[in-house]
Amino acid sequence: MNRSIDANDKVRIFETAAELYDVAAARIVELAAKAVVSRDRFLLVLAGGETPKPLYQKLAREPLRTALPWRKTHLFWGDERAVPPDDAQSNYRMAAEQLLHALSLPEANVHRIPGELSAAAAAREYSQELRAMADGGQAWPRFDLVLLGLGSDGHTASLFPGSMHPSRSAQATLAVTGSYEQRATSRVTLTPPVFNSARNIFFLVSGEGKADVLANVLEGNKSAVRYPARRIKPHNGCVTWFVDSAAASKLTTRHE
Ligand code: 6PG
Repeated sequence: MNRSIDANDKVRIFETAAELYDVAAARIVELAAKAVVSRDRFLLVLAGGETPKPLYQKLAREPLRTALPWRKTHLFWGDERAVPPDDAQSNYRMAAEQLLHALSLPEANVHRIPGELSAAAAAREYSQELRAMADGGQAWPRFDLVLLGLGSDGHTASLFPGSMHPSRSAQATLAVTGSYEQRATSRVTLTPPVFNSARNIFFLVSGEGKADVLANVLEGNKSAVRYPARRIKPHNGCVTWFVDSAAASKLTTRHE
């Protein structure tokens, strides 16, 4: 068997998606508290797509809404479609509807990708925004937690199959085209070096439609060009896969 995940990656399998969201949300509260104690802020990167919606709803409601240090939390996006923020395809809009509306966060804490610009211009602007939020001299901040989804074609964020995404360059963002389930194709994404500098990464994977791709990403031997989610390997951080039993149904390795 070709087990590609690193030894310190964790795969957590839950009977139901509801349990997956409960445990992921509780873990976010712990990480946020720890980040605030250590660095006085919590830097969180949100994912788009359908899977994180129930998690965002949970974070927006009591008891978690009060449990999280929102005023010290800075929200970023791992990717965005080149559409205005009120467009139905906007990842910002999804997060605004599921989460932000309940929070009244200071504007300075919400770092959205300006999808209303061309993808190239939005990528440039977001790189500057990331630099401004980084510790002295760095090109981007070291995020406390990055949330990611997994497309059934193996993409994550907007890192699509078939492209050579930079693995070492200092480029923080990319303008890309990639089509997936009729969602907008012109996009901006953070790059693997940015994700891989994070302290923690949670992949959220739910439903039987993800079973084949999850087995390929975690246990297969195809390259990261075919399955870009395999590029996510933080140098000094932890990856946790939050998976429901339907999505885990084709894994052959025993996981906790
Ligand atoms: C996006 C995402 C993308 C998403 C996957 C999985 O903007 O679409 O960030 O990478 O996470 O496509 O999407 P689902 O959760 O809807 O399956």
